[in-house]
Amino acid sequence: MFPRRVFLLAAWVLLSAVAAPPAWAAPLKIDPRLAERGKAIYARECSVCHGPAGKGDGEASYLLFPAPRDFTTKMFKVRTTPPGEAPQRSDIVRVLLLGLPGSTMPSFVSLPESDLRAVAEYVLSLTGFENEPAEFVKIPKAPPATPEWIAKGKAAYAKYECNKCHGDKGDGKGPSAAELKDYAKRPIRPNDYTRGVFKGGGDPQSIITRIMTGIEGTPMPSHAEVLEKQEDVIALAHYVRQFSKGRDFWQPSTGVIPARRTQGKTPLRMSDSQWAKVIPTPIPMMQLYNDGRPPIELSVRALHDETRISILLEWDDATLDRMGSVNTFGDAVAIQFSLGEKDPPLFVMGARDNLVNIWHWTAPSADVEATYAGMAVDDYPLAGQPYPRRAMGHPNIVASRATRPPFISAWAAGNPISSPGLARPFMDLNAGGFGTLQPQGPKDQNVQGQARWAGGKWRVVFTRTMESPGKQDAQLLAGSIHPIGFAVWDGARRDRNGQKSVTTWYKLRIE
Ligand code: HEC
Ligand code: HEC
Repeated sequence: MFPRRVFLLAAWVLLSAVAAPPAWAAPLKIDPRLAERGKAIYARECSVCHGPAGKGDGEASYLLFPAPRDFTTKMFKVRTTPPGEAPQRSDIVRVLLLGLPGSTMPSFVSLPESDLRAVAEYVLSLTGFENEPAEFVKIPKAPPATPEWIAKGKAAYAKYECNKCHGDKGDGKGPSAAELKDYAKRPIRPNDYTRGVFKGGGDPQSIITRIMTGIEGTPMPSHAEVLEKQEDVIALAHYVRQFSKGRDFWQPSTGVIPARRTQGKTPLRMSDSQWAKVIPTPIPMMQLYNDGRPPIELSVRALHDETRISILLEWDDATLDRMGSVNTFGDAVAIQFSLGEKDPPLFVMGARDNLVNIWHWTAPSADVEATYAGMAVDDYPLAGQPYPRRAMGHPNIVASRATRPPFISAWAAGNPISSPGLARPFMDLNAGGFGTLQPQGPKDQNVQGQARWAGGKWRVVFTRTMESPGKQDAQLLAGSIHPIGFAVWDGARRDRNGQKSVTTWYKLRIE
């Protein structure tokens, strides 16, 4: 059961929510010009999830767990203000910069900060808060962790009964965990510290702030009123971080992925020693459906030689999953380029008036493994064999080794992705919004690569000429900057189609 003081606190929050505003509260003043500018950005970037009026009912919302926030509920998790108060504008901007790790709320680090301020103003205008946000009590600064702090933290963790929810091992499996619900009566899990994924940041200052303010709309209580001494919250933060080993999944990023000019030829294979000289850009991904497993971190490297560009993607995946019978799902990864001249469309799948070009790789089906048991999963550098044209009555297509009968029955059944020359691990596709994914024609399939799974890790190299004759292909010329996004499917999580992990837009800067 909840500790008694949590109940008291809940009662206090409830009372303060219905009570008249304190005399000092200034009425909320929205800057109309800023909010108007924010409205346009909101329509483009946020509405698909949060809905046109901020009610959490955008067209993608049905796909997402946890659900996009309904701003009219006034629930803001990452705040520096007391429970029940409006968040500071800077709190919203911070969420926009870092996203909410473990959910699909993306980082909008690629937008200029003035846009973030504008859209934050607009979000605030949708909430229905009546008063300006209050300043929160000062958050104490944490001195470095020492064994003494950790010992004090352990005692405080027991005293304040954090273990009831978060468990003695900090794994989120305390005795009350199973029965916790959020404000909308949806089940909610206490944070499993061992994963190192914190919605508001894993640094000591952020954790102290979350313990002080609580997490609005969830059973995570504010401890500001119950802390006996300030020292306790510092000790608690150090104790929490000792479970996460100081890991913080969500690192602020510049949003830029450099594609460097190599001295020699662009590497086509992952074994090429040139890759070792490139510093990978770590990219945290958002699970569209959070099943409680740690989010995926993608590592990205890119190199070019002015003719050809190669992009190496790596991520941890404990199991190699192949598309098989009806109930097994394959691992896959995709790179997405915006084709538009103006601002890129939403990262999910492009927009009707702004196509995206998608380079897609899927782990070949189990039948390939039966033929080539135990070898590298697939290895299709540039060359392929001509497709047996007579057999299929199909124009001559250069096909990869995977273009084999197992795929052809599906082709015969009318599945476009199974057409010869298309049913290959590496595909070139386009999309213009949800449900519009289309493979390019056989002649335009010019994305190639190599993939290998070993030691609990996928490594996939994509390569293509920088210029492409395809009308719906991204033209990746030296000296240019391209909006780029990523998606990963993990078969073991039963990911398929729209159930995947994604990123927001980054910028590929081609040297
Ligand atoms: C792909 C879907 C998606 C998009 C696009 C998206 N959000 Fe979110 N957003 C979410 C989800 C899901 C949550 C709730 C996560 C949770 O409760 O853990 C959220 C939560 C929030 C919150 C609450 C933060 C807090 O402290 O509780 C704010 C503010 C927010 N989003 C603003 C925005 C703005 C502004 C944009 C556009 C610039 C945007 N979001 C775009 C999915 C999205
Ligand atoms: C009544 C149950 C409950 C108790 C007691 C509780 N928590 Fe939580 N806590 C939660 C839940 C639920 C979440 C997840 C909220 C979410 O994901 O939106 C959470 C999240 C957190 C987070 C993650 C913050 C972030 O940025 O994601 C930290 C840190 C945390 N709690 C620390 C503590 C500490 C320290 C204590 C004791 C002083 C404590 N909690 C007591 C339920 C509880």
